[in-house]
Amino acid sequence: MNSKTFKVAALAGDGIGPEVMREAIKVLRAVEDKFPVRFNIIEAPVGWAGIDAAGNALPDATLALCKQSDAILFGSVGLPERDPTVPRDQRPERAALLRLRREFQLFANLRPVVLWKELAHACPLVKERQGAGIDILVVRELTAGLYFGTPKSIETLGNGQKRATDTLIYSTSEIERIANVAFLAAQERAKSAAGRKPKVTSIDKANVLENGVLWREVVSDVGKRYPDVALEHMLVDNTAMQLMLKPSQFDVLLCENMFGDILSDEAAALAGSLGMVPSASLGAARGDRFFGLYEPAGGTAPDIAGKDRANPIAQILSAALMLQYSFKLGEAHDAIFKAIGKAIADGNRSGDIFNPADSSAKKVGTRAMGDSIIAAI
Ligand code: IPM
Ligand code: MN
Repeated sequence: MNSKTFKVAALAGDGIGPEVMREAIKVLRAVEDKFPVRFNIIEAPVGWAGIDAAGNALPDATLALCKQSDAILFGSVGLPERDPTVPRDQRPERAALLRLRREFQLFANLRPVVLWKELAHACPLVKERQGAGIDILVVRELTAGLYFGTPKSIETLGNGQKRATDTLIYSTSEIERIANVAFLAAQERAKSAAGRKPKVTSIDKANVLENGVLWREVVSDVGKRYPDVALEHMLVDNTAMQLMLKPSQFDVLLCENMFGDILSDEAAALAGSLGMVPSASLGAARGDRFFGLYEPAGGTAPDIAGKDRANPIAQILSAALMLQYSFKLGEAHDAIFKAIGKAIADGNRSGDIFNPADSSAKKVGTRAMGDSIIAAI
């Protein structure tokens, strides 16, 4: 069989990272058995694993590996107990994750939030509010805004006070490129779900922030190029409320960096568990492909790390997104997605999505959850 080989940098990181990464790699190996593709997967330390191995949350060798790879499959980094032991700028979140986002200009963060019908019980909303189902794509700007704007400092004032400054900056081109991603994603989603009318809800705080005014203006302009996609603007505070009241009204949510951080966690709760939400962080297109970093939306969950209790689905779905966006392997992506559906339909549940009242469901560990997905590929 003539097969293409893709090089993957697998950075498992800390906490549950290694055990969910192990399951995702098993799934990629199962994909190799079914499709004409090979993955050259090279693992490297990041986060506390990087500090312990090489004195640095993003060791030079790890960064070099990422540069030579076709995509980065990322686990999670940071350990709340150890983080305070090093200066803020050396902690895993800033020194590894934010640095990778910035280094590779991964400006587009896609977080698909889907509530599987079998997991309706795990959604915090009562059934009536779940509507016909929850299927939202959060498109978050990832390399600008408050996270990266300067000045950024804590100054000591003469009067015994301190003063903290963060700077919210967006330029036209930064808004345009993320808005394009959102409109294109809405078109793509409408193609794959018959009957879905593509819609972008653009989030801002235009009633108070100059950034919101510019955001709204630029997104409106970009929207004119996509007459088939409905565009609505919504204030961020109202959006937070609408997500709880009527999430089924949303298709694609377009957010600046900070609002996207907050609203994507809120939206993820609707999927029943953070353990169900993957993400893709993409840079500029290279032809019809993207270089990207793929990671679960959840964190390191140190309380359950190493206990075979973590839900590997977000990591496995992240690998599936990698196949879709970086390798253009749409069929392999769909095969993984369907296999997860089958594993769930068969009653396999990690602890976070287990409902003791459901007699057709059984609680399984991280490995067994991964095995049940592989068996269905
Ligand atoms: C996320 C995380 C990160 C962020 C942290 C870990 C820096 O919360 O990916 O949403 O705030 O972007
Ligand atoms: Mn977050």
